[in-house]
Amino acid sequence: MKILIRDGHIIDPSQEFDGVGDIVIEDGKIKEVALQRAHHPPAGKGGKRGGNDPETRVINAQGLIVMPGLIDMHVHLREPGFEYKETIQTGTMAAVKGGFTTVCCMPNTLPVNDNASVTEFIKRKASQEGHCAVLPIGAITKEQKGEELAEIGTMRNEGCIAFSDDGQPVVNSLIMRRALEYSKSFDVPIISHSEDVTLTEDGVMNEGVISITLGLKGLPAEAEQIMIFRDILLAELTGGRLHIAHVSTEGSVNIIRNAKNRGAKVTAETCPHYFSLTEDAVKGYNTNAKVNPPLRTARDIEAIKKGLKDGTIDVIATDHAPHHRDEKMREFDSAPFGISGLETALGLSLRLVQEGILSLRQLIEKMTLSPAKILRIQKGTLRAGMDADIVVVDEKKEYTVHAERFISKGKNTPFEGWELRGSPVLTMYKGKIYEW
Ligand code: DOR
Repeated sequence: MKILIRDGHIIDPSQEFDGVGDIVIEDGKIKEVALQRAHHPPAGKGGKRGGNDPETRVINAQGLIVMPGLIDMHVHLREPGFEYKETIQTGTMAAVKGGFTTVCCMPNTLPVNDNASVTEFIKRKASQEGHCAVLPIGAITKEQKGEELAEIGTMRNEGCIAFSDDGQPVVNSLIMRRALEYSKSFDVPIISHSEDVTLTEDGVMNEGVISITLGLKGLPAEAEQIMIFRDILLAELTGGRLHIAHVSTEGSVNIIRNAKNRGAKVTAETCPHYFSLTEDAVKGYNTNAKVNPPLRTARDIEAIKKGLKDGTIDVIATDHAPHHRDEKMREFDSAPFGISGLETALGLSLRLVQEGILSLRQLIEKMTLSPAKILRIQKGTLRAGMDADIVVVDEKKEYTVHAERFISKGKNTPFEGWELRGSPVLTMYKGKIYEW
């Protein structure tokens, strides 16, 4: 089966492509990318790359952006164990709707993905029911209890592409040191959920005036920053590769920037909610705005945008954390942390381009090439011979966020009713087309 995506504005940071052109896809792989010299193609062309061949499906992408399928390196798919929140089937379908063709799933399932048989189960389910690539992230410690290292080597051999105890930190510094040492021999990143739990016990939102006003226990910025600092020091001590998950504070951005400047092997991600919303969203005890780390202040948002712009923050990931409606209907203190993020990520991130913070190319890089480099995976590129993982985006398409229309089982979004501009209109995974 041959497909031709014609006359789209192709942006592929992996090859420094930015221009109008065609992409030929054959048998699920990218066969050829041909850029035209002129920005606006002459009318009437088309037949030459099979456009008139009845065997070829032609997709007219004129006026649309064509980019590599997005990679989300931080997703909770909830299967096995919490299928009432999300499944591999629903989560990957939500991913594809959001423009993602690769998702990396965190290990805080039941059982925890801390051994090769759970990894094998996830991979098998994904190949049977998934709509995009699913790359498992293994736990650093057994049952994510922080006490004993998990079977990192066997999980790596089974296909885990990174290791993390996400949802909670590795409290014991010696265990984190050992994990970073192991990461060197397996050439995988260790992803840090940075939180000093002695400072965050019972906390449910950012610590500050609003938490006091609402009578809610706070999570101070320092709890995140202390742990980031520790983990960077351990990465420098061991030479291991460290990736900081969900950066939310100004102090964190500054610590990571300083570390990068002195050559530490550290990379970092943030999520759309950390540059789109402040802690104000919690007012009215809105549990859909309860997330860990918490939404912070306008000053933190400015620092995160600056960090994205100057490259301190390498990646935009979603931390897609779907929960059941009944759980989010509990009182604020006992509702679970998390935001369902796959279907709003691109629209929220494009606001950075609309505001002039990032160029479109920079944004695409943070959602394709950068995570691919960190994870050392052959994805996030339109290079000939690679899987035909492609997303076609209408930058001008306006829409209103309605959680009820999410494909994800998790309707927990604080962005209900937001007007966004820019949406995937077609996602292709290994040549298979999903259109909206
Ligand atoms: O808000 C969050 N939800 N933060 C995490 O670290 C874990 C996640 C979850 O699993 O629900």
